[in-house]
Amino acid sequence: MSPTPMSRKIVVTGGAGFIGSALARALVARGDDVSVLDNFSTGKRENLQDLAGQLAVVEGDILDAALLDRVFAGADVVFHEAAIPSVPRSLAAPLPSHNANATGTLNVLEAARRCQVRRVVYAGSSSAYGEPPSLPVVETMAPAPLSPYAVSKLAGEHYLRVYARVFGVQTVTLRYFNVFGPRQDPNSQYAAVIPRFITAALEGRSPTVYGDGEQSRDFCFIDNVVEANLRAADAKGASGKVFNIACGTGTSLNRVLALLGEALHRPIAAHYEPGRAGDVRHSLADISQAKTVLGYTAAVNFVAGLGKTLAWFQEQRSRP
Ligand SMILES: NC(=O)c1ccc[n+]([C@@H]2O[C@H](COP(=O)([O-])OP(=O)(O)OC[C@H]3O[C@@H](n4cnc5c(N)ncnc54)[C@H](O)[C@@H]3O)[C@@H](O)[C@H]2O)c1
Repeated sequence: MSPTPMSRKIVVTGGAGFIGSALARALVARGDDVSVLDNFSTGKRENLQDLAGQLAVVEGDILDAALLDRVFAGADVVFHEAAIPSVPRSLAAPLPSHNANATGTLNVLEAARRCQVRRVVYAGSSSAYGEPPSLPVVETMAPAPLSPYAVSKLAGEHYLRVYARVFGVQTVTLRYFNVFGPRQDPNSQYAAVIPRFITAALEGRSPTVYGDGEQSRDFCFIDNVVEANLRAADAKGASGKVFNIACGTGTSLNRVLALLGEALHRPIAAHYEPGRAGDVRHSLADISQAKTVLGYTAAVNFVAGLGKTLAWFQEQRSRP
């Protein structure tokens, strides 16, 4: 579908990644004029394959200011998803994470200011909370990042708030909790837990669990994250603010394995290894501010999202 004459130009940085490509797909579906900017460090062209000819894909880096000026020219909204999105990677090499995540975000905001972009919506992270004093976490709690990744993502949030306040660029931070769904990479050394578990289970291997498996996460299906982004682009009263984007329910890793076992009609025996530095024990969000200000509904609950994700990975494996 080509954009309608009235369609708005929208840019998705990191749009070849797991979350960015899902967002780009939803924007194309509603008729926006979509440009993706990605350096393909972790993103993949195949994530956008089904959208060929329906959006512009620019290969390049968010650290390239001149390129950002070209891509952002005339844009109404920038969804800033590009980052090196991994706690362990930031522990292994803090500087590249800082450059992409903190300096990269400042670069995006500077270009948005120069190009008079109306609103920047930012992929923040629940890692900002660290080990919170109580659960669920609310946006008014003091941040306490525990890894270079978390610091770099939190720096981005602070820049967003300042740009809304000082430079008149509307900005919204969405603090994503553990996002999962189709197209999430199961193979990287730093892969997220759900695609790793699903892939191992489908291949008949024992998934590796770091720690005792009783640590819990507020897993959030990708469609909910897309919904939150679409709402954040236009919601009144949202600029300069931070919103938790999750389901508001906690699920332990052992429970995830049990649910997968039920769905596959066989128990899944995990292989347990020592816990990892920088990981938090429990994570659970209060999502009332996103509900009130953005009208966010978290329409897909964890169990339904896990079923959809499993079905997608099964379908991929059944392809020749
Ligand atoms: N997946 C989650 O659970 C989660 C949770 C909290 C926050 N986030 C944030 O959401 C965003 C998207 O994460 P994802 O899970 O889709 O990861 P992803 O790795 O699939 O996507 C990140 C994308 O950014 C691109 N990229 C990285 N550095 C870049 C650069 N310098 N210039 C241009 N492009 C660059 C990558 O190639 C990739 O396509 C990230 O900002 C991440 O920090 C993700």
